Amino acid sequence: MSIFLPIQSVRLTLREFREEDLNEMHHYLSDSEVLQFMMQDTNTEEGSNAYLKKFLQFQKDNPRFFVRFAIIEKLSNCLIGECGLNMPNIQHKEGELVYRLNKKYWGNGYATEAASEVVGLGFEKLGLHRIEAMCDSRNASSIKVLEKIGMIKEGCYREHRWIKGRWRDSVVYSILDSEYFIQK
Ligand SMILES: CC(C)(COP(=O)(O)OP(=O)(O)OC[C@H]1O[C@@H](n2cnc3c(N)ncnc32)[C@H](O)[C@@H]1OP(=O)(O)O)[C@@H](O)C(=O)NCCC(=O)NCCS
Repeated sequence: MSIFLPIQSVRLTLREFREEDLNEMHHYLSDSEVLQFMMQDTNTEEGSNAYLKKFLQFQKDNPRFFVRFAIIEKLSNCLIGECGLNMPNIQHKEGELVYRLNKKYWGNGYATEAASEVVGLGFEKLGLHRIEAMCDSRNASSIKVLEKIGMIKEGCYREHRWIKGRWRDSVVYSILDSEYFIQK
């Protein structure tokens, strides 16, 4: 039983994943362009199923260490991606913001809309002090999302990860609760 009610933004509903979400989830998890900057390789349907099951299992944790919302476009009622927080150290009031969308829906401001709701949840409901995000320095659209939601660039881990045949520089962004509440 989820402890999170669905979050409503102007164009999106963010709700916890359900078993029946597998097909729409697999759509973006099997797209090499969606995963190009990530460690993860494109999923088989089995892989997507295991990924979904993992997040269904996490819904039973108390406290919640991993929260992953399905992003639903209100207009079409389609599942267009996911956004969430990884908080393995929630006792230290820190979280990591993550998101990815089905390619068909890129460029509409949806990631920005979803990410700002999840950051709001992190500070306002979960009492986090710091939320960070890390991405490939070449991932221009993701960097834009992080900047649009008020995150500040902290630095760059050089050749941080060996991903898909090359070294990846990772940029680190963060926002603190005080900055979030001032911007609000
Ligand atoms: C990153 C991602 C979530 C962005 O989703 P989105 O819904 O298209 O994002 P938004 O529309 O909210 O914002 C994207 C911004 O980047 C800009 N942008 C897109 N491509 C760009 C590029 N090549 N260079 C610079 N800016 C770019 C857009 O114009 C937009 O900015 P604007 O609102 O000022 O015009 C989506 O591309 C995705 O799922 N990528 C694959 C997974 C991924 O990389 N996840 C993040 C891991 S850290």
